[in-house]
Amino acid sequence: MILIGFMGSGKTTIAKALSDKLNIKSIDIDEEIINTYETTISRIFVEEGEAGFRKKEYAVLKQHIDKNINDNVVISTGGGVVTYENSLKSLKSQKNHNVYYLDAPFEVLYERIKGDSSRPLANQDEDKVKALFKDRQTLYHDAADYIIKTEQEIPEIIKEILKYEN
Ligand code: S3P
Repeated sequence: MILIGFMGSGKTTIAKALSDKLNIKSIDIDEEIINTYETTISRIFVEEGEAGFRKKEYAVLKQHIDKNINDNVVISTGGGVVTYENSLKSLKSQKNHNVYYLDAPFEVLYERIKGDSSRPLANQDEDKVKALFKDRQTLYHDAADYIIKTEQEIPEIIKEILKYEN
């Protein structure tokens, strides 16, 4: 299982819930980037810009997709992973994991992420964040095998995902 979706869509929370329920490993790509490069996401953005971050994100994503190709794991990604062509290709070309898009309305997401200093791209004018959200819609739909509406309780979301896993 691979979870994609905008910032604040609950990827990390749902991944943890799936991992607890199924007793499988959960891999958070943002966390792995932080551990691998021993830095923070904000620092990478400051020092290398978004372009530098996307390269690192791709390297870590690819490494974990390759390593876990035959394993039942849940991988949660960062919200912008679909904007980098190589990452998008990796998500689409691997066939062993279903890709789930956690879908939520912009207003709900923005309330959760606004002013979050650990998320450089959330920390800007609402119009800009909304433009990002709009630009990414096609990419999320392109990458996803299944679209999960997240305006329901977590156990319902988990149930829906697991329906597709058997
Ligand atoms: C980003 C989302 C973040 C993180 C980085 C960039 C984005 O992950 O990868 O700040 O471009 O949307 P979350 O979706 O977990 O916040």
